[in-house]
Amino acid sequence: MVKITETILRDAHQSQAATRMRLDEMLPMCEKLDNAGYYSIECWGGATFDSCLRFLNEDPWERLRQLKKAMPKTKLQMLFRGQNILGYKHYADDVVDEFVKKTIENGCDILRIFDALNDPRNMEQAIKSCKKYGGICEATISYTTSPVHTNEYFINLAKELEDMGADNICIKDMAGILLPYVAYDLVKGMKKVLKPTTLIHLHTHQTAGTGNQTYLKAIEAGVDIIDCALSALGNGTSQPATEPMVAILKGTEYDTGLDVAYLNEISNHFKKVADRLKADGWLTEKSLATDVNALIYQVPGGMLSNLVGQLKKANALDKYEQVLAEVPNVRKDLGYPPLVTPTSQIVGTQAVFNVLAGERYKMVSAETKGVLKGEYGKLPAEPNPEVIKQVLGDTERITCRPADLLKPELSKYREEIKEYIEQDEDVLSYALFPQVALNFFKYRQANKKHVDREVGDTTKGIQPV
Ligand code: CO
Repeated sequence: MVKITETILRDAHQSQAATRMRLDEMLPMCEKLDNAGYYSIECWGGATFDSCLRFLNEDPWERLRQLKKAMPKTKLQMLFRGQNILGYKHYADDVVDEFVKKTIENGCDILRIFDALNDPRNMEQAIKSCKKYGGICEATISYTTSPVHTNEYFINLAKELEDMGADNICIKDMAGILLPYVAYDLVKGMKKVLKPTTLIHLHTHQTAGTGNQTYLKAIEAGVDIIDCALSALGNGTSQPATEPMVAILKGTEYDTGLDVAYLNEISNHFKKVADRLKADGWLTEKSLATDVNALIYQVPGGMLSNLVGQLKKANALDKYEQVLAEVPNVRKDLGYPPLVTPTSQIVGTQAVFNVLAGERYKMVSAETKGVLKGEYGKLPAEPNPEVIKQVLGDTERITCRPADLLKPELSKYREEIKEYIEQDEDVLSYALFPQVALNFFKYRQANKKHVDREVGDTTKGIQPV
């Protein structure tokens, strides 16, 4: 039997519609989702936290509580970027620990913990805290291709993460470039070294049209869980659609136990949500098309659209092909970081700089410097020594765990926003996204006064519609 994780409430709309699905569009289907028989439902973390605060005027913590209340039976899952948590820099260990604690307290069961560089030291604190507070720890390898990223490399990494306390190992193929026969060997190899009780969870994207086949070969190799998104927001840049995968496996030794007709009822609701996202301009045909550029350039779909955006801004869209060709060069110079947030943006931006300046590393971003310096962690391979010399000069590089250089910072954040705190979790929202969270707190305060005056009741919450 193969287990399925449903991603429609997180990765599906993050990949296809800029993370704009609202809680009131999720809640009406939660009871049905809860009864469908999924292994877990991914519904939090990734970009949803930022999107709630920045664009939707929603408290992400309240979203998690409401989702847990509406789906008490199924395990809820989130995506957690190691020492970055859900933000874009390293946080001190006390912030990571408190965030994990509150995440589990508010209803999240499984934490998928990854690091952009696959540096286990950047996952260490999150894994420790996850175990401490009773969460299921799904430690993750960020899949990529390069001369150093062999199956052997990933298998060793999986073993190391298991030794650190992982319950599940996730192979996170964020770009949709893991091909079926490679996946077969990778899963087989991992199964050989991991304990029989450690579940292997595969995550891919259908961007290049290869996801279903990758899942099928991984299943034949013994993968335990796959990530799918209901067809309303499945395929394209999102996960392979749930219903076809369920149908493919029906009646075989891998039968998921899920029912296609039942899933279709749920999907029909999300088709209406997809229509709304289309009407508002978040969901476009482009995110549904098959894009083989990922296979050629080995970069995630989101990164390609970022590059187009950056070049448009600089009025240099004609340099697109040149920038794409520069991406692998920058990646090599920087020691082959996997291309996932935040390294995908860093490598992409540096490639744009190198092309637009007409000279390589004449213009260098602070982030590129940081990567070379070791501020993000240990790079998979040694960076180009000439580039190090050119960019860093005599600046010393860091070899310790980057977070070892950070002092506890939670009390400082608490002090800074004490007048806005309505719940302990507010400090964490503020720590991750200071300006955005502050704007949200002000909105919340103003809105609450308004509701108090108009209705006299703020405890009603959001009703399913
Ligand atoms: Co993904």
